Amino acid sequence: MQVALEVNGSPHDVEVQPGEPLSTVLRNRLELTGTKVACGEGTCGSCTVVLDGRPVLSCLTLAAACDGASVRTVEWDGEVLARLRESFTADDAFQCGFCTPGQLMSALALLERSPSPGRDEIVAAMSGNLCRCGAYEGIALAVSRAAEESG
Ligand code: FES
Ligand code: FES
Repeated sequence: MQVALEVNGSPHDVEVQPGEPLSTVLRNRLELTGTKVACGEGTCGSCTVVLDGRPVLSCLTLAAACDGASVRTVEWDGEVLARLRESFTADDAFQCGFCTPGQLMSALALLERSPSPGRDEIVAAMSGNLCRCGAYEGIALAVSRAAEESG
């Protein structure tokens, strides 16, 4: 079926298969390979993108159900995401970096709905994003710093 998506502000009409995940469309059809797929079954958060303002697991989201939706990925050039990228770098919020795109997108959705989150709110919002390198302290610090710099 044909699906109309707005991705990072640009319109796309893509032919998708029934059961095809959004992550596949983003990575293989639109060449937005910043979105990473690790587990592919909804447990790690590495494939997180922002769909109509909400963080979603793109490996579990059916592309066919996204007709008319707005999707943002780690390639988006928005200001808050740029600030998050800078703070993740400054605060050592990653090691291998594989989880980082998903972490950034969860953080973006958090700061858009709650511009000045407390530490508990940050930890809760990021709890679905696993980091095998254990960079959790740096991640929480980076999100907090990006929020402060937005304020
Ligand atoms: S790849 Fe989607 S949750 Fe792990
Ligand atoms: S930085 Fe390596 S998994 Fe998070």
